[in-house]
Amino acid sequence: PPVDTFDYIVFGGTGDLTMRKLLPALYYRFRDGQVPADARIIATARSPLSRGEYQDRARQALQEHIPPASLEADTVTRFIELVHYVSLNGAEAQSNWADLRGLLDQEPETRIRVYYLATSPALYGQICENLSKQNLITEQSRVVLEKPIGTDLQSANAINDSVGRHFPENHIFRIDHYLGKETVQNLITLRFANPVFERLWTSDAIDYVQITAAETVGVEGRGAYYDRSGCLRDMIQNHLLQVLCLVAMDPPVSLDADSVRNEKLKVLHALKPIRPSDVAIYTSRGQYMRGHVNGQTVGSYLEDLGEGVTSETETFVALKAEILSWRWGNVPFYLRSGKRMAEKCSEIVIQFKSAPWTIFANRPAANRLVIRIQPDEGVMLSVSTKDPTPTDSLSLREADINIEFEKAFNIRYPDSYERLLLDVVRGDPILFIRRDEVEAAWKWIDPILQGWSKNEAPLEPYPAGTWGPEGARNLLAQSGHLWHEDMK
Ligand code: BG6
Repeated sequence: PPVDTFDYIVFGGTGDLTMRKLLPALYYRFRDGQVPADARIIATARSPLSRGEYQDRARQALQEHIPPASLEADTVTRFIELVHYVSLNGAEAQSNWADLRGLLDQEPETRIRVYYLATSPALYGQICENLSKQNLITEQSRVVLEKPIGTDLQSANAINDSVGRHFPENHIFRIDHYLGKETVQNLITLRFANPVFERLWTSDAIDYVQITAAETVGVEGRGAYYDRSGCLRDMIQNHLLQVLCLVAMDPPVSLDADSVRNEKLKVLHALKPIRPSDVAIYTSRGQYMRGHVNGQTVGSYLEDLGEGVTSETETFVALKAEILSWRWGNVPFYLRSGKRMAEKCSEIVIQFKSAPWTIFANRPAANRLVIRIQPDEGVMLSVSTKDPTPTDSLSLREADINIEFEKAFNIRYPDSYERLLLDVVRGDPILFIRRDEVEAAWKWIDPILQGWSKNEAPLEPYPAGTWGPEGARNLLAQSGHLWHEDMK
């Protein structure tokens, strides 16, 4: 069923995120009948474009990012009719607010308004202040903040304070698109609808956990942002810590947003701090060099940034996190993410402990549960079975119990933004980050950044198209553990 009608006002309307993610996501939801025919998407940006010119760009974006089979001409035309454009600098008090107000005033004040800030986070506070001065924040207004919220705890607090002066916390939707991924949400069902897993979900049975988000792309055109951010801030502080929370949290008492977020927060609070002087023990950071990805020669990070540039920014991070709790005592959680790696693959690997004793000629391999976030969303459990090859003794062979969701349910897996954008309209914050979660995550990340800035852990080069620097392998080897690709 469609959601209540709305105006989606996007700041940063000509940007990459709007074109690549937001417009296609809204199109799919419109096509599937969830966006009412009188909803409006009001893009704003500084460029002096007419509505028609912006609609042309929007149409082009859909053609670029949606497969032709899903683009029905008539549906595209009706969708594009929902799109408006206001040339406006949201951070400027004296800008063209009259046009935006004029457009919004055409509809009753009770209509849901979503202000989506897809701009630099440095502008969030000013945009909210201007919205407030212009009396554009109604009872039914919400604001969506894209990551990164700040670059450390202090700057995150400053952003949250400045937005919080104009919007109550329950109207602030901090988006982390990993929470919109089907398999990430599936963690909640897998764990809490299947006692077979949850009963084993403790240090009694689990040896260690790995969470990987590997990409084959480099920094593409985003060097200016990325070089100031780096992998730890770009991926680990938000996406990977959120996944870690869902893997490690205790069962929430209900599916109410705050019950879930309270449990996630407990995990963040229980993370053992990594002191700046200990970063060499707990972390590995790398930067990609020239190499080969999918058979193509690709340049180094520095080449991607541009001629004559030097940089100490990490494009790869691996780290060992420990959760100080009864459930997780002595179970390391290894997190890693990187650009220009061997494969695009986001997954969670739960490595179970080996059998304490064996009656077989060869030792059974420990069971392993692999939850694939992307691509090929699915769940795979490795088990030991009888080797069917005729031999004298009963010997073992590993095989997989494998669910591939797309095949199992014969359904297109929606992009994460599709779910999240309409959850904002519905006012359901379960898949968004509460302020205290952002703070707790930065509190844990800050000392790592401090250690790195003192060069306590060297930045290691790795060839593009590999699984990262040697340091990442050593991080696990200290405890006799292996990354997933080394187990195969
Ligand atoms: C974004 C990061 O949040 O996530 C990007 O800023 C990264 O650097 C992207 O490429 C990865 O998302 P996904 O959905 O492709 O895993």
